[in-house]
Amino acid sequence: MKILFDSTITLHHKVILITGAGAGIGEQIALDCARRGAQVILLGRTVGKLERTYDLIAKESTEIEKNTGVYYEPAIYPLNLAGANDLDYEQLAKVIEQQYQRLDGLVHNAAILGNLSPIKIYAPQQWYKVMQTNLNSAFMLTQACFELLEKSESASIIFTSTGVAQQPDAFWGAYAVSKAASDTLMKILAIENEDINNIRVNSFFPGIVATRMRASAFPGEKPCALTQTEEIAPYYAHLLSKHTQHLTGHIISKEDFEGAPVIESCC
Ligand SMILES: NC(=O)c1ccc[n+]([C@@H]2O[C@H](COP(=O)([O-])OP(=O)(O)OC[C@H]3O[C@@H](n4cnc5c(N)ncnc54)[C@H](OP(=O)(O)O)[C@@H]3O)[C@@H](O)[C@H]2O)c1
Repeated sequence: MKILFDSTITLHHKVILITGAGAGIGEQIALDCARRGAQVILLGRTVGKLERTYDLIAKESTEIEKNTGVYYEPAIYPLNLAGANDLDYEQLAKVIEQQYQRLDGLVHNAAILGNLSPIKIYAPQQWYKVMQTNLNSAFMLTQACFELLEKSESASIIFTSTGVAQQPDAFWGAYAVSKAASDTLMKILAIENEDINNIRVNSFFPGIVATRMRASAFPGEKPCALTQTEEIAPYYAHLLSKHTQHLTGHIISKEDFEGAPVIESCC
């Protein structure tokens, strides 16, 4: 499979919910989608960080309108995924229904690393928190939003995968297990909906990206030597756009794209 990279793709009028939109990769996905003309809904646990993403987008409002002909003010929805239950997700879906009547994109990006430790001594409370944040939340959020996604002409659900989901390694514990299970959830959803051609479901594996999560796992790395978050966001835009309308059930990475710009390390 090869996806043709197109830096000009648009997301005009699409309503897109991004979890973990206050930092790292999620922040850049939100900014990139807004720049392409989407109505973004910023979900995350820290209000101040969501407001910062809002400000980044709002600062570009004139330019966005000039470039795309539309500007949608971002919406902020603070929610702690570690503690949220099915009723919280139903409430969120109700708010989206009232405001926008549908959902065109659902990006499951928020996650925590948890402890990097052997299973023998892995703290059960930490295990539960990682599973709740990375996996159970995506299940409940997808379920709550499903009818809204069905109302879209062309809806895309994206899970965010990782290397240790496919190739497990020692000490990655609940993080690796939650991500492998998310990829399986993605595949089941894709199979269940393969006859409904307006909903597609994929995972994107971003590679090694300079974020707080990466730094906490590998504190000795130079962030400038890694892929930057801005480089990753356009791949999500492709998976949210008409460009990939018939693609479903895949774990996709940068290597599956043809013609993407090669960006030199900044250090
Ligand atoms: N960076 C990499 O090299 C890499 C590699 C492979 C996959 N990934 C995946 O990429 C995604 C984004 O990671 P990142 O590197 O950008 O990490 P990050 O900088 O740590 O960002 C994670 C985001 O998730 C949010 N979040 C965490 N716990 C939450 C909770 N309980 N409720 C709501 N939001 C919560 C965070 O919000 P707060 O800031 O408010 O805590 C933050 O916005 C993750 O799914 C990760 O597994 C990353």
